Order: sequence, then structure tokens, then C-alpha cells
Amino acid sequence: MNGRRDFLKGSAIAVSALAIGGVSTRVLASQAASFAGVVYTKDNPGTMAAKVKSHAPEVNVAGSKVSLKTVHPMSAEHHIVRHTLVLSDGTVVGGVTFKSTDKAESSYDLPAGYKGKVYATSFCNLHDFWLTEFSV
Ligand SMILES: [Fe+2]
Repeated sequence: MNGRRDFLKGSAIAVSALAIGGVSTRVLASQAASFAGVVYTKDNPGTMAAKVKSHAPEVNVAGSKVSLKTVHPMSAEHHIVRHTLVLSDGTVVGGVTFKSTDKAESSYDLPAGYKGKVYATSFCNLHDFWLTEFSV
């Protein structure tokens, strides 16, 4: 199990690095099923279907403001580590790294006039990398 856990952590970090590096996440979202066990979504939760509500980031859009919330317990042993918001062309709008004492909530301003797909990510230290895709 530790070997699989280490592999998943490495894979999630690689996927995060790709998103941060500007590589489009459009491929990731459309091929989420191909990344089963690496990228989890509401529609493709793999073996973690029971974890969707507490791990897939919730999205609230008000004008150009996007707020993310992961309804997840926060403790030193188990917590949400990071949120990111990425546009369909790979532009990273922003990201927030959390301490275990924080609430897993973040907010971002979309570029003026942006219309299109947006990808919200949430990473749990025990339950890996989650993606919520939406459009504005
Ligand atoms: Fe978790």
C-alpha cells in the first residue's frame, strides 16, 4: 500500500507541476477517466466515490470572482493541502497552500471578460488530487 501511495503522491505532484507550468489541463479534464487513480472527479471518483463530497472542490461564481471550498476536516494528520484555479489554456489564475489549521477556502478573480472552461483543484494529503471542471 505504501508503494501505491508513494506512486499516487508522485503522480499528483507531477500533474500539479504540469498545471503550474502552463501545460493545458484541458486534456486532463477530458481524459480524467484515463487518469483513474491519479485525478479524481465527481464523475470519475474511482475507488473513492464516498469521498466526493468532502474532496471535490465546491465552486461558487459571482461575476468575475470564483470561490473554492473543500468541505473537509482539517487536522495535522489529514487536511487539504492546496487549491488551484486554472483556465482552459493552462493559465494558472492562482493557488493557495493551506496549513492544517486553515479552512480549505480560497477565492480568485478571473481575467476581465473571460468566458470558457475553468478547472478547480483540491489536493488532500491522504486522498490525493481532485478536479472540478466548470464554465463561466
Ligand atoms: Fe481527505
